[in-house]
Amino acid sequence: MTYKKIPGWLSNNDGNILKTLAKIVPDNGTILEIGSYVGRSTCCISEEINESIDFYCVDIWNPSNLVDINDLNLLKQFNCDLSDIFPNEENFIKNTKKYNNIIRIKENIINIKINKKFDLIFLDALYTESYIKKIIKSYF
Ligand SMILES: C[S@@+](CC[C@H](N)C(=O)[O-])C[C@H]1O[C@@H](n2cnc3c(N)ncnc32)[C@H](O)[C@@H]1O
Repeated sequence: MTYKKIPGWLSNNDGNILKTLAKIVPDNGTILEIGSYVGRSTCCISEEINESIDFYCVDIWNPSNLVDINDLNLLKQFNCDLSDIFPNEENFIKNTKKYNNIIRIKENIINIKINKKFDLIFLDALYTESYIKKIIKSYF
């Protein structure tokens, strides 16, 4: 199944950019995704990398974070059930199960520090400048 079938907001253009970046990550490298939701961007990246790359995926996966009108629009766009767009870990696992190099971390990124240097970070959760700076400072 292509990543494009998995519900999420990642556009085709953004997906192409992510794929281009993922291809540059060297063998045995590391990737961090912050805000994995139900795996759309995770699978987009995974389609381009091999299993020697450790792919850390962090999300709070709190199902009660749903639902607003944007979420309901997702349903229409992907022709899926409400249960498929719940931001829970089960949906993420179901959609990403064929990729064995994913390291799932169910945490608030603000409360943890992963002791690794990353070749690629995709931050798709906290969009304020101060958080972005904080993440960049702590991982690069
Ligand atoms: C826009 S969605 C991510 C979409 C996903 N990258 C995709 O392509 O489908 C944002 C995600 O960030 C997660 N999130 C929000 N704040 C977070 C935090 N502080 N730590 C970890 N995850 C967080 C939410 O649970 C949600 O699943």
